[in-house]
Amino acid sequence: MSEPLLQGRTAVVTGAAQGIGLAIAQAFSRAGAGVVLADIDGDAAVAAAATLPAAIGIRCDVTSEDEVAAMVGQATGAFGSLDVMVNNAGFVRDATLRNLTLEDFRAVLDVHLVGAWLCTRAAADVMREQKSGSIVNISSLSGKVGNPGQTNYSAAKAGMVGLTKAAAKELGRHGVRVNAVQPGLIETALIGGMRPEVIEARLADIPLGRIGQPDDVAKVVLFLASDMASYVTGAVIEITGGRGM
Ligand SMILES: NC(=O)c1ccc[n+]([C@@H]2O[C@H](COP(=O)([O-])OP(=O)(O)OC[C@H]3O[C@@H](n4cnc5c(N)ncnc54)[C@H](O)[C@@H]3O)[C@@H](O)[C@H]2O)c1
Repeated sequence: MSEPLLQGRTAVVTGAAQGIGLAIAQAFSRAGAGVVLADIDGDAAVAAAATLPAAIGIRCDVTSEDEVAAMVGQATGAFGSLDVMVNNAGFVRDATLRNLTLEDFRAVLDVHLVGAWLCTRAAADVMREQKSGSIVNISSLSGKVGNPGQTNYSAAKAGMVGLTKAAAKELGRHGVRVNAVQPGLIETALIGGMRPEVIEARLADIPLGRIGQPDDVAKVVLFLASDMASYVTGAVIEITGGRGM
């Protein structure tokens, strides 16, 4: 394949103002896509989009059905199609069961799982008609192995795997692929709250011997988004440097 992997395609990335989402938007842009960077922090999304060609930044809270519908409408309005949807937005509210509130359990389920479902459903409406599309869900190794202090996050990220596989089975005959990735420890603001000794302990378990970078995730997501993965659906790819295999 000589032309850029996403030439002429339109992609939406949620939570794209920073971190892994921004790295994915940058990789997609380098690959020739028109990119919608969506984030609950609309100003940051607009500022990030201004650094890329053929990109727009918009505010979208993925937990809002109306804002998700508007986001998909803006993507098709600006670029004429929706070919790739990346469900990346999220945050953590870590606490042990003794201290975790119902509010923080629900908030984490809401942003990762309900948000990914709302965006998958809205994107599928467009992609089904197009008879093509790729949806990539950003799960986490925490959803495979479970992390103490993350009963909310691990449940949400495991739920995204079920969502991915069920949607892949529903949408496959319409030419729409749905896959997930499970990153391990990636250097972003999200892990800023982790204690140094916890990071050291995790490092000891990483065969590749380093913390991952956002671009390590973006490269795999670009593969899944592109025709390079034309016969891949319902897959869950770990991006962990080998930890938790
Ligand atoms: N960093 C890691 O080690 C790691 C590991 C595995 C999975 N992940 C997952 O990768 C994704 C990106 O994480 P990151 O590390 O880049 O974090 P980050 O905090 O740097 O970025 C997350 C982005 O999501 C946005 N966001 C939060 N709530 C939102 C909402 N309701 N609607 C829209 N946008 C919202 C934030 O404003 C932020 O820009 C998350 O789903 C996270 O769970 C991260």
